[in-house]
Amino acid sequence: MSKYYVTTPIYYVNDKPHIGHAYTTIAADVLARYYRQKLGPENVWFLTGTDEHGVKIAQAAEKFEKKPQEYADDISASFQFAWDQLNISNNDFIRTTEKRHEENVEFFVSKLKEAIGPDGQPVIYKGNYEGLYCYGCEAYKTESDLVDGKCLDHPNIEPAYLKEENWFFRLSVFTDHLKEIIERGDFIVAPESRKNEVLRFIEDGLDDIAISRANVDWGVKVPFDKDQTVYVWVDALINYVSALGYKGNDDKFKTFWPANVQLLAKDILKFHAIIWPAMLLANGLELPQVCFAHGYFTIDGQKMSKTIGNVIDPNQLVDEFGTDAARYLILAQYPFGHDGDIKADDFVIKYNADLANGIGNLVSRVLGMTEKYFEGQVPKMKYSADFDVKAFWAQLDRGYSELKLYENLKAIINLVSWCDNYIDQTKPWELSKSDNDKLQQVLYNLIELIRHLALAIYPYLPETAEKINIKLNINETINSIKFDKSREIGGMKSGVKIEKGEGLFARK
Ligand code: ME8
Ligand code: MG
Repeated sequence: MSKYYVTTPIYYVNDKPHIGHAYTTIAADVLARYYRQKLGPENVWFLTGTDEHGVKIAQAAEKFEKKPQEYADDISASFQFAWDQLNISNNDFIRTTEKRHEENVEFFVSKLKEAIGPDGQPVIYKGNYEGLYCYGCEAYKTESDLVDGKCLDHPNIEPAYLKEENWFFRLSVFTDHLKEIIERGDFIVAPESRKNEVLRFIEDGLDDIAISRANVDWGVKVPFDKDQTVYVWVDALINYVSALGYKGNDDKFKTFWPANVQLLAKDILKFHAIIWPAMLLANGLELPQVCFAHGYFTIDGQKMSKTIGNVIDPNQLVDEFGTDAARYLILAQYPFGHDGDIKADDFVIKYNADLANGIGNLVSRVLGMTEKYFEGQVPKMKYSADFDVKAFWAQLDRGYSELKLYENLKAIINLVSWCDNYIDQTKPWELSKSDNDKLQQVLYNLIELIRHLALAIYPYLPETAEKINIKLNINETINSIKFDKSREIGGMKSGVKIEKGEGLFARK
């Protein structure tokens, strides 16, 4: 792999960001930061953004007596603000109301108009839609999608009955091909449970889908039929190529497309694992390598909801715990890819255990002892502890390639515990009275492991990693350090003066 392109969904601007959006975005950030270390920053592209068209947004704006654009500007800015607070390192932020995006939507849809399907027939046609539509999902629904006539995700919103003439995309003719490439793994849908879910759905047969709407103002007009507006999901999916400059075949597009990983949650899996690849195939574009749907979480066992009042604002979490800790508390809860529960009640406990008493305490103990016994100078020794650094890195690399973000975090916390145990067993404070050579050896081992710890936590806790690096008097930023070289054992130079400085995480 020589380049890495990772995307998040573009989030609806009907409401401010919450930690559900933060979850996906932090995960994408961890991947982007890891691959920047591995491949060099110039070879990574990380895209996020906001989904701003459609009736759902127009209605939300109306509620606040604002023009849709004005409302979208405000909410989109609140997403960008939250991502700044969380130190999200996206390379671009796409908004579907930007001209550069709208032009690409027109271009993409015009291409579809000319495209010929696997059966030799045009892939789009004009037809009549009659049926139900959920404005919460912005999606067409069949009776079988509904329970007691209501959408499962939006039980408060009555599905609308639509009867209109639309442009249709012949999704049905891609059924066999999609099934084949997903089964073969040419297009990876992950985790396995999601792949099976998509395959079962495809096996039931795919219906053609309407890709335009009549009587919808807030959106991109169909270029060859100005009475119609591009269906908001088609508009939105195109962001993944529009942001790279698909229309102009820009260098960025040539370099980074296809995406290596598209992250999303299971709520929007069908759009990403069925409709999007079919649209790409129709226009002769390459498919993303991996479509990864992580789980959906509850908060303290309950669905996140305004009515329950348990919607967590990521900014609040940052205010309370700091940027790195907020990132940590969100990602360190349950395995990535599974459904899970965010235990907000335990945030303080987890913060103290893993960060203040874990990473923070270890670093200040080891650097404090180095100051106390050796005036802050790294002892002249070679690494000789039992902790297998090579195996540690191999485990992390494998973990990232399989998107095991939670397991990798566990492995890192495990390194911290290993060091804590090592200190308890070797008792440097006793060695300082009896065996100076052994004391030098023990401290060198610990300092070297802390150097590796900083490199390893960087994707998750970027500020903390840089702070440790500075304490260790390493002059390069983590981003600019050569990846393979930095992971070699014994990289910590002897004689360097290190400094304990301020604590990393204050106890709460
Ligand atoms: O669907 N658990 O936007 P959206 C985990 N605009 N992830 C969660 C979550 C939770 N409880 N709540 C939200 C849209 N998410 C469309 C996408 S893409 C071309 C268009 C995350 O604002 C998760 O990534 O409803 C989910 O897929 C996404 O937010 C939905 O964001
Ligand atoms: Mg949603």
